[in-house]
Amino acid sequence: MTKLSISILDCDFANIKSEINKINNNKIDLIHIDIMDGKFVYNNTEELFDLNKISVLTNLKYDIHLMVNDPLDKIDDYIKHNPEIITIHFENNSNLMGCINKIKKHKINVGVAINPDTKISEIYDILDEIDLVLVMSVNPGQGGQKFIINTVDKVKALNERKCKNNILISVDGGVNNTNSKELLNAGADILVSGSYLVKSKNLNNSIKSLLNH
Ligand code: DX5
Ligand code: ZN
Repeated sequence: MTKLSISILDCDFANIKSEINKINNNKIDLIHIDIMDGKFVYNNTEELFDLNKISVLTNLKYDIHLMVNDPLDKIDDYIKHNPEIITIHFENNSNLMGCINKIKKHKINVGVAINPDTKISEIYDILDEIDLVLVMSVNPGQGGQKFIINTVDKVKALNERKCKNNILISVDGGVNNTNSKELLNAGADILVSGSYLVKSKNLNNSIKSLLNH
């Protein structure tokens, strides 16, 4: 079953209650939270999300995406929200295994994200250790960017490789109804979609066009 994770990076934070209500009333599985530290990427969103407040407004669990250098210590701030997934990046991480083990210890699914320029072969030796690979289909840093088309081949290759492992493939960045079909055929298990969904005039219809072809 494909899962849909909505990135709320570009939502209307002044009206967060109605934004989350819209999400609650539609077939969305997870709320994707993009944490940026202003170093791993130029933007900083560490103060943008009030996770305590949002969790009061919904029963959905968080899908945390940490775009930060050396996330080991910052992971604790997100473990306390008991998310479904915490994803850290493969890049700029001097203690990847330490991060993986810390997340696992708390019985939270652990994801590793790879940037568009990172080859999937670079993470082959950790596939047995993780629950999910987040394949970035834009360079991280902001929402609303154009989908990088060769991501589809990357997902296909990863899907062939992972047969031995029970891991999920998630795709993040520029996901909309023009590329979702190819991604699902290639083997994506979770689609992360931000601006396409949060800027939609009719969320229900947009979700349908994303998932049903
Ligand atoms: C990019 C983020 C993505 C992004 C998704 O750095 O990790 O989650 O905000 O938004 P769209 O779907 O607009 O690319
Ligand atoms: Zn993300």
